Amino acid sequence: MGRGTTALYPGSFDPVTNGHLDLVNRARRIFENVVVAVLTNTEKTPLFSLEERVQLLRDVTADWDNVEVDTFEGLLVDYAERRQARVVVRGIRAVTDYDYEFQMALMNRRMQPKLETVFMVPAEEFSYLSSSLVKEIARFGGPIQGLVPARVEALLIEKLQSR
Ligand code: PNS
Repeated sequence: MGRGTTALYPGSFDPVTNGHLDLVNRARRIFENVVVAVLTNTEKTPLFSLEERVQLLRDVTADWDNVEVDTFEGLLVDYAERRQARVVVRGIRAVTDYDYEFQMALMNRRMQPKLETVFMVPAEEFSYLSSSLVKEIARFGGPIQGLVPARVEALLIEKLQSR
């Protein structure tokens, strides 16, 4: 692992938060390439369209040379194989994340033993942050400054107020 390794950072990113960005920034210092992989066929109905989620991610990661934003559908293990990625990065905020992440990591390993899941811990200030909480706060007019990039904040407010 380490240099020369492509790491996938998969998720729904509906929308990208400062917690996600903190994690991408940490991962890009460890791995040669980081592919932020946005799931297209999510079970939940997203607030942001796939195009919006991808565009926002591209905007906020534009300064980072070794970070790419892509989309995938179907199984993550199949996408990892297509991208020749050996590592999947996932953020763990608190122990409550662990159950689900542990399950996914082992299920992915069962399907593709060569693919390693690496758990990373975001900065403390983001340990209670999630896209769904941000959306909920924004929906009721609460303050979301500092939780998401400024562009995301503006778009969230625009979207939720026009509903
Ligand atoms: O941001 P999220 O919603 O927590 O990300 C979940 C994601 C996209 C990583 C997970 O749902 C996923 O990998 N979906 C692709 C389908 C798949 O491979 N499912 C089997 C997982 S064991």
